[in-house]
Amino acid sequence: MRKLEEKIPLILLVLFMAFQFVPATQKPFRDSKPCKQFMLYYHDVLFGGNDPLNATSANVTGPSGLGAFDFGKVVVFDDPMTRDQHLTSPPIARAQGMYFYNMKKVPNAWFTFSLVFNSSEHKGTLNILGADIITAKTRDLSVVGGTGDFFMTRGIVTLETEVVEGTKYFRLKMDTKLYECY
Ligand SMILES: *[C@@H]1O[C@H](CO)[C@@H](O)[C@H](O)[C@H]1NC(C)=O
Ligand SMILES: *[C@@H]1O[C@H](CO)[C@@H](O)[C@H](O)[C@H]1NC(C)=O
Ligand SMILES: *[C@@H]1O[C@H](CO)[C@@H](O)[C@H](O)[C@H]1NC(C)=O
Repeated sequence: MRKLEEKIPLILLVLFMAFQFVPATQKPFRDSKPCKQFMLYYHDVLFGGNDPLNATSANVTGPSGLGAFDFGKVVVFDDPMTRDQHLTSPPIARAQGMYFYNMKKVPNAWFTFSLVFNSSEHKGTLNILGADIITAKTRDLSVVGGTGDFFMTRGIVTLETEVVEGTKYFRLKMDTKLYECY
């Protein structure tokens, strides 16, 4: 068996290497600049019972009656995403997923969806989820991953409500900032 004194240089080397690698991999996230950023508009046309041609989303449950803010209501959507604010502009992607209302005392929704790109320009998905505090001017959701042109990406999507027309239609401005691009 080797004596401890003989092992000390090895232990020091291991410690030295460990400290070398830690700072190199921990880049301070908050100071990072996005590797990709783009602005898109999300249009939600809620099915009212008599507009199956125009509707792009539908509630699949009613509100539970708990609280005054539709707690428990689930909306499934396949919504167009456009480069400008016009609902009828050619969509650059679809937002496919759902939101549900999940607070009793304030209007709050929780979103989980994929942005599905299938054009000559972009192919792939961005997978997004998080709380949508409807009364806040802007809300940040997480981009938790991606596929295709967005392989293994991560980032933040900032939502801002631009237009609400009763329960029929709303439009969100969606600023996507990706911090990991491959
Ligand atoms: C469907 O959308 C078109 C174009 O925006 C509009 O002219 C029409 O009134 C809409 N139909 C319904 C039933 O909402
Ligand atoms: C959708 O929501 C409306 C109003 O909140 C409700 O009357 C209706 O029953 C809901 N639809 C389903 C399928 O639960
Ligand atoms: C993507 O676009 C191609 C070409 O238009 C089409 O054949 C294919 O079905 C689309 N895929 C999806 C998932 O929409």
